[in-house]
Amino acid sequence: MSRAFETECVHAGVGPEPATGAVVTPVYLTSTYVQPEVGQHAGFEYSRTQNPSRLALERHLAALEGAAYGHAFSSGLAATDAVLRLLSPGDHVLLPDDAYGGTIRLALRVHAPAGLEVETVDLTDLDAVRGALRPTTRLVWVETPTNPLLRIVDIEGVAAVAAGAGVLVAVDSTFATPALQRPLTLGADLAVHSTTKYLGGHSDVVGGFVATSNEALATRLAFLQNAVGAVPGPMDCFLVQRGAKTLAVRMDRHCANAAAVVGLLDGHPAVDRVLWPGLPDAPGHAVAARQMRGFGGMVSFTVKGGEAAALEVCRRTEVFTLAESLGAVESLIEHPGRMTHASVAGTTNEVPSNLVRLSVGIEAASDLVADLSQALA
Ligand SMILES: Cc1ncc(COP(=O)(O)O)c(C=O)c1O
Repeated sequence: MSRAFETECVHAGVGPEPATGAVVTPVYLTSTYVQPEVGQHAGFEYSRTQNPSRLALERHLAALEGAAYGHAFSSGLAATDAVLRLLSPGDHVLLPDDAYGGTIRLALRVHAPAGLEVETVDLTDLDAVRGALRPTTRLVWVETPTNPLLRIVDIEGVAAVAAGAGVLVAVDSTFATPALQRPLTLGADLAVHSTTKYLGGHSDVVGGFVATSNEALATRLAFLQNAVGAVPGPMDCFLVQRGAKTLAVRMDRHCANAAAVVGLLDGHPAVDRVLWPGLPDAPGHAVAARQMRGFGGMVSFTVKGGEAAALEVCRRTEVFTLAESLGAVESLIEHPGRMTHASVAGTTNEVPSNLVRLSVGIEAASDLVADLSQALA
């Protein structure tokens, strides 16, 4: 029987634990496992290689992505790193020109010096993607919606361009989560997440995840988990899995609250431009309406009065907490230029200095709107 996404969030890959019948997968705080004979074991030898708490999380999140395989990592960037390690020196990779700053830093300052040919391109322009492909291109790294400009990339369109050239497509789907967008069903080879964000959902854990239905890629990712060792501990896996069980209901509320906040910001005299794919005149609106089930809980906007005014708004909110990160129950506000995206300052990927980013939480919409209203006054 095929089950609805909401049901899968609660049940997919979840218990009961065979030895005791525990409904919730226990936190297996063990580094090693007894072997009755040399080489005999029940699938677990050492917790860098595999751990039952991690396996439960991997099966759970893979099911939510509609993937055959899932691999959990110690952070979103460790997951991104593992995907980039699927490539070899001399291979060419395309990245969005407004990718998360940490992704750009990892590609340009870690993988490029090791031989990867890294190029950024406007992935919203499929002709530009087609034109940027080289005989050595192995991967197009998509991020959609993008952080922090909330641009939308047409996953099916990029996958069609890449398929013709035998190029892999990975999608950083952190902002959307499988509740709103399932990249593998749109033709991508890999879906990547910072589980620190919506999947964990409570600002209490750092983690990453890669989903794929390609067996060869999955085998290599499992090798990299073990060989590199950037794996999450069992307690982290438990926390992410607990968060994922409420993903569907949280995302509904995040989306509804974001729409309410946009209702205040759009046309507000202190606001210059609102960036949210749910706005009918947003450049990516039509694609978002097609490939997403909702427009998400992230909202960015530029303020009139430049950087000083943007910093002032960040200083004044009371319900929105000034902090990095996103995707959790509490609403957060930040200044990307000085905070999350400071690492791309001075590059072509620099973000506007009057930009403010909101991660709209699950509080009462009326309190969030009132808070922003007083901060902008
Ligand atoms: C879109 C996106 N991808 C990846 C990452 C990296 O994730 P982590 O901080 O878990 O390493 C982030 C972090 O903000 C992000 O926003």
